Parts: sequence; C-alpha cells; structure tokens
Amino acid sequence: MKGVLLLLSSVSILLPGVGSCPKKCLCHRPSNSVDCSGQGLSKIPADLPPWTLTLLLQDNQIHWLPALAFRSVPLLSTLNLSNNSLSNLASEAFYGLRHLEVLNLTQNSLLSLETSLAHALPGLRQLDLSSNSLNLLPTSLGKPWENLTVFAVQRNSLQHLERTLLEAMPKVRLVLLKNNPWKCDCHLVGLKLWLERFTFAGGVTDNAICRLPEPWKGRDLLAIPHELYQPCPLPSPHLAPSLGQQPGSALQEVHKPSENNSGQQDSLECETKPKTKPANLRHAVATVVITGVVCGIVCLMMLAAAIYGCTYAAITAQYHGRLLASTRESEKMGSKESMDRSAAREPPCQSPP
Ligand SMILES: *[C@@H]1O[C@H](CO)[C@@H](O)[C@H](O)[C@H]1NC(C)=O
Ligand SMILES: *[C@@H]1O[C@H](CO)[C@@H](O)[C@H](O)[C@H]1NC(C)=O
Ligand SMILES: *[C@@H]1O[C@H](CO)[C@@H](O)[C@H](O)[C@H]1NC(C)=O
Ligand SMILES: *[C@@H]1O[C@H](CO)[C@@H](O)[C@H](O)[C@H]1NC(C)=O
Ligand SMILES: *[C@@H]1O[C@H](CO)[C@@H](O)[C@H](O)[C@H]1NC(C)=O
Repeated sequence: MKGVLLLLSSVSILLPGVGSCPKKCLCHRPSNSVDCSGQGLSKIPADLPPWTLTLLLQDNQIHWLPALAFRSVPLLSTLNLSNNSLSNLASEAFYGLRHLEVLNLTQNSLLSLETSLAHALPGLRQLDLSSNSLNLLPTSLGKPWENLTVFAVQRNSLQHLERTLLEAMPKVRLVLLKNNPWKCDCHLVGLKLWLERFTFAGGVTDNAICRLPEPWKGRDLLAIPHELYQPCPLPSPHLAPSLGQQPGSALQEVHKPSENNSGQQDSLECETKPKTKPANLRHAVATVVITGVVCGIVCLMMLAAAIYGCTYAAITAQYHGRLLASTRESEKMGSKESMDRSAAREPPCQSPP
C-alpha cells in the first residue's frame, strides 16, 4: 500500500517535471523563473510550470492574449511582455494573477488601457507602459490600485491625463510622463496640481513637456504659472468616466469630438484662455493703480505742506525784517507809541526817518 502510494506520488512529481518546461523556454527552478524571450513566439506557451514566479516573454511577436492566458501560472509575480506586438489588452487575459507585482509592457502597440486592469491585478506594484501608442488613459479605476508604486507611460501619444487616475494610486512614488504630446490647456491643470503636491511629498517624476497650445510649446508643465490657467468652462463630455468597458469604446470616444463642433470649440476656448488677461493680472493692475493714486495724493499733500511751510517762513522772515526796522526806528524816536504807529505803517523799510 505504502509502496503504491510512493510510486504514485513519485510519478505525479515526475510527470509534471517531465513536461514542465516548454520547448522554447529555459526553466530555472532555484529562482522559479522561466525565460522564453526572443524565441519568435506568437502566443503564450501552453505548458508553463505552475511554480513559475518570473516569466520572461520579451522580444517575441505576441499580438494577442486570450482570456485566462496565465491560468497555469497562478503564482506569477513578474511578467515581462516588453517588445511584443500587443495592441490591446483584455483584462480577462490577466484574470487569476492575484500575486502579479511587476508587469512590463514596454515597446508594444497598445492604444488604450482598461479600467478593469486594476481589478484583474490588485497586487500590482510596477506597471511599465512606456513606448506604446497610448492616446487615452481611463479617468479613474473604480477602486484604488493600492500597492502600485511605479507608473510609467513615457513615449506614448498622450495629450491629457486626469488627476483622478493618479489619485487612485495612493502609494505611487515614481510617475514617468516624458515624451508625450501633452496639451497644456485647462484640462491639464489637474495633473499639474497633482504633480506639484506629489513632488512636494517626495514623489519622483520626469518632465511633462507641453506640445500644445503654441505659447507653451516646449515648456515644462510644472513651470507654467497657474495664474495663466482658468478652470475649464464645462466638464467636457468626451472625458466622462464611462471609458474602458471595451478596448475599442475608449478610442471611439476620443474621436467623437472631432465629428462635432462642440469639442473643437471647447478646445479652442481652452487654448485661447492662456492669452486672455487673467483675473490675477487684473487684480495686480488695480493694486498698482490704487497705489499710484494714493502716492499721488500723499505727494500733493507734501507739496502743499512744503509750499505752506515756505510761505510761512517767508512771511515770518518779512515780519522779523519789519520788526528789526521798526526797532531801529523806535531807537531813534525813543517813543513806544511811534513804534506802534511805524509798525502799522507800510512798508517800514521805505519810509525815511
Ligand atoms: C525586439 O524583438 C526583436 C525580435 O522579436 C529583436 O530582433 C529586437 O532586437 C528587439 N528590440 C529591442 C529594442 O530589444
Ligand atoms: C524586461 O525585459 C527587458 C528586455 O527586453 C529587460 O531590460 C527588463 O529588465 C525586463 N524587466 C523585467 C521586470 O524583467
Ligand atoms: C521594462 O523593460 C524595459 C526594457 O524593455 C526596461 O527598460 C524597464 O526598466 C522595465 N521596467 C520595469 C518596471 O522593470
Ligand atoms: C498590498 O501589499 C500588502 C503588503 O505587502 C499586502 O499585505 C496586501 O495584500 C497588498 N494588497 C493587495 C490588494 O494585494
Ligand atoms: C453636435 O452638436 C449638436 C448641437 O451643437 C447636437 O445637437 C448634436 O447631437 C451633436 N452631435 C454629436 C455627434 O455629438
């Protein structure tokens, strides 16, 4: 009985051991890693060992992931899909990867990101989406992506990024945004404010350089003064948080505004905003004018005081002159009465003794 059990268990250990490493991969049991990189694969190998923690699939031609693509490797913690041909990600592809911590999707052709990816991969710590074709990210994630610390989307086609998305990543410490055609209009004020607070709190980011509108081209989003922004006139319908249910739906929503004038008007209004004289500037001008007027009044008062002082001094001097003259007169006359009279006479200097 014991022998049979032993035999059975050794067979059951041996059997998966035999077929455990897919043909084109290198399996390294001590590190629980499977390296299938650069093998010209167009899909995920079928017979991946269940102990896999690290799966390297970079430098292949995988263009599509079926639902539950990683069902056989539920313990996976690092997945590298860099330099493949993925153009969309159905979040069902990642179902079951509750322990995935690092997902590297750089150098693919991704166009959008699904909101539900956060639900599919709740334990994710690093998400690298750089060097793709992303032109739209979801506005929020439904629930916080609580352990995400690295979020990289540099070298994509992003114009806008809603701060609500970043607010759904409470532990994020590194946010890479470089080399996107950022449109620094009123819609990007939220991102700017978020980044200011983020960097102040010790977060690390690279420079989001504006591509549009014209006055800010080539400038760092963080370096543009807020005074030159005003809130957007209305919440624009094409950025409403209804995106990401289907991978295609998000794209349609992006192109919709161009069919209609309203979207264009909206963006035009945004672009002209920085050029109009903002409220703060008007306040500044008013302050300068009031200060000028007050200074002017003070100056006039000082001038009046000076004139008064001079006049008073002159009159006093004249009076003293008269007094001197009449004193001399009274010395000659010797009479107090005549001094009074001579003081009343005028001018005293001209009257001969
Ligand atoms: C991407 O993968 C291809 C093979 O599919 C390889 O020839 C190429 O060198 C890789 N590119 C980079 C930048 O690693
Ligand atoms: C993913 O693969 C690239 C090579 O294509 C490598 O440079 C990078 O370090 C890998 N990342 C992870 C997390 O394994
Ligand atoms: C992802 O892979 C790229 C190379 O393809 C590498 O430069 C980058 O550091 C990796 N990202 C992470 C988060 O490991
Ligand atoms: C986040 O990380 C903590 C600590 O490592 C872990 O206990 C928790 O389960 C993680 N959260 C999720 C949703 O995986
Ligand atoms: C375009 O705008 C008009 C009003 O200006 C509106 O009636 C119409 O429904 C809009 N069309 C689309 C496709 O949004």
